[in-house]
Amino acid sequence: MKFRRTICIFSFIALYCLVMGLQAQETRVAEKVYKNVRVLKGLTPDQFNDTMSFMSASLGVKCSHCHAGEKFDTDEKAAKAVARDMIELTYRLNALSFGGKQAVTCYTCHRGQLHPSSAPPVLFGYVKESSPVALLPTPDEVLNRYTQALGGEAALSKISTRLRKGRFQNSRGGDCPLELYEKLPGKYLSVMVGYRRPGVSVYRGIRDNEGWTMDDRGVQALSLQDTARERRDWAFLGTPRLKEIYDRLTVKAREKLGGREVFRVEGEISGFPAEQLFFDANNGLLLRRVVFLNNPLGPYPEETDFDDYREVDGVKLPFLVTRARSDYRAIRKIEEVAHNISIPDEKLNPVPVAARSK
Ligand code: HEC
Ligand code: HEC
Repeated sequence: MKFRRTICIFSFIALYCLVMGLQAQETRVAEKVYKNVRVLKGLTPDQFNDTMSFMSASLGVKCSHCHAGEKFDTDEKAAKAVARDMIELTYRLNALSFGGKQAVTCYTCHRGQLHPSSAPPVLFGYVKESSPVALLPTPDEVLNRYTQALGGEAALSKISTRLRKGRFQNSRGGDCPLELYEKLPGKYLSVMVGYRRPGVSVYRGIRDNEGWTMDDRGVQALSLQDTARERRDWAFLGTPRLKEIYDRLTVKAREKLGGREVFRVEGEISGFPAEQLFFDANNGLLLRRVVFLNNPLGPYPEETDFDDYREVDGVKLPFLVTRARSDYRAIRKIEEVAHNISIPDEKLNPVPVAARSK
């Protein structure tokens, strides 16, 4: 009975997806979606919204500093006009003086304040603080300790599939059951069960090189860039093979993170801003990863914290993963883990990705 119902639900989803998949739109650009976009052109709506969050966080203000309530398109607030000028100012500065690099951003001057300070602090440069040079390990030493801390290569390589169940909660009031499926290498599916409303789940999946998302608004194929990013995010939810992810790793510093001694490691990947990884200097585990999202105004950071590592089948996994941006926070709390169970491909593959957007 239950089985038949499952099949029935799946064929319904497949049919729904087929229909929606065929309609999978070309990537929309912000100037078409919004009414009054004059400088921030050529961005996807998501990138455009990240840009708004980037400005708010850089200046330490809410949206309402530049916008009159929900009327985002009107230009009635003076600050909005100033902001437009400032966007052009940063473009110009970077083009003229920094060879087109994103050297100057809103944050460079504003530092979280509306009115940047023009005066340097008193005594700066006259009082020397001694900074002992810390002896840093090599990247290989950090990675090997990390692999050991997770359970060691032998235990890690025994895992071929994984199903985690738990709960997803975010700062927008979202709170729902979460299911994370992995079939290594290359197939992943997350289901936020009933996230939109009862019966309407949000799916995000990767099958080999195709990334997609699906909810009641239809199916969206991820661009190659977003798929690559999503694959890395998945790897970090599980047991990342850091040497396969990064082109180059450099141990930058020994510092403090929330009272713990950490090694900060920079990971370079071609085509993306470098990422920062923070490894516990005592137990070797990864505590934090910071990625920077591409954005026309500057790098917009997103931080993921890995906590509550627990051992399952000889392998350690973070049972609490918190992701945060300047104006958003999401928590994944794992409650159950099953390894090496059978996960049929169809289960991970409910969506025919019709067309990949750019
Ligand atoms: C520092 C000023 C500033 C802040 C803060 C700001 N915006 Fe904007 N916003 C702008 C500017 C400038 C534009 C127009 C950009 C252009 O012309 O390319 C804009 C445009 C928009 C638009 C497009 C409206 C349309 O139909 O043309 C939306 C939507 C929007 N902002 C949302 C937000 C949200 C949501 C926030 C808070 C997270 C926010 N903004 C914070 C300055 C700001
Ligand atoms: C080169 C330094 C610099 C950069 C870069 C910069 N600003 Fe400014 N910004 C200033 C200064 C200086 C003022 C004037 C502050 C004052 O009046 O005290 C200002 C003022 C503003 C104001 C008006 C403040 C108010 O009272 O509403 C807004 C809005 C603003 N900036 C937005 C931005 C945004 C958005 C960016 C990035 C796209 C940006 N700025 C980048 C230096 C900068």
